[in-house]
Amino acid sequence: MTFYLVRLLKMENRDNCKVSNQSLNIEDVSRASHVSWKPGTLIYPLPAVMISCGSTPEEYNLLTISWVGTICTNPPMCYISVRPGRHSYEIIKRNMGFVINLTNENMAYATDWCGIKSGKDFDKFEEMKLTPVKGEMVKAPIIFESPLCIECRVKEIIPLGSHDMFIADVINIQADKKYFEPDTDTFDLAKAKLIAYSHGHYYKLGEEIGKFGWTVKKESLLKPPKGELS
Ligand SMILES: Cc1cc2nc3c(=O)[nH]c(=O)nc-3n(C[C@H](O)[C@H](O)[C@H](O)COP(=O)(O)O)c2cc1C
Repeated sequence: MTFYLVRLLKMENRDNCKVSNQSLNIEDVSRASHVSWKPGTLIYPLPAVMISCGSTPEEYNLLTISWVGTICTNPPMCYISVRPGRHSYEIIKRNMGFVINLTNENMAYATDWCGIKSGKDFDKFEEMKLTPVKGEMVKAPIIFESPLCIECRVKEIIPLGSHDMFIADVINIQADKKYFEPDTDTFDLAKAKLIAYSHGHYYKLGEEIGKFGWTVKKESLLKPPKGELS
């Protein structure tokens, strides 16, 4: 603990930390170096997915959503949170289904645009030159250009405040074959060049820094066997 405190105090830009060595404790240091903010939505990075909805081409619509996530592995379930004022809200509620389309660098412009403009005023598929293709298990269309389309059936709608949470079962997934590794026949999401959203900005994903469980893998598995090129 002492080592930690000394390290903290040695860090630059800690001039306002006026605690003496005698009274030094981690709470004092923390108050000097951290600010408290009023509660807010600051869990980032997040995806910025495009939700497609509607049951006929006349009704089809798209909206961008960041309040989205997985909530159960088995059965596979997810959620989206939508403001009741959105044009898409009633469409999703009426049809009790939607598609979560992952977005990539090629779709970045459309992702932002569809998150600003309303389906009340525009045919967003048409405007963004995206192609609706009828879903296999839901009435809502998938976006043909998306690398991965997750078809969802709404199970429950929970009013939370500004947003209502649509809890849904994942009932089908459509993956673009062009992202499959031909040798192993596995889907390679890295190839899809997905984008992330963080605090008002969109980002490309960076370099991979690890693989699930790499921290507990035996060292021998991480290092190439003797005699092989490293
Ligand atoms: C990056 C991004 C994330 C967004 N996330 C949400 C969200 O989680 N929930 C929501 O209700 N609106 C969200 N929006 C706003 C809607 O996408 C936006 O209001 C859209 O124009 C609604 O379209 P609609 O009126 O055609 O339904 C987001 C917008 C952007 C750009």
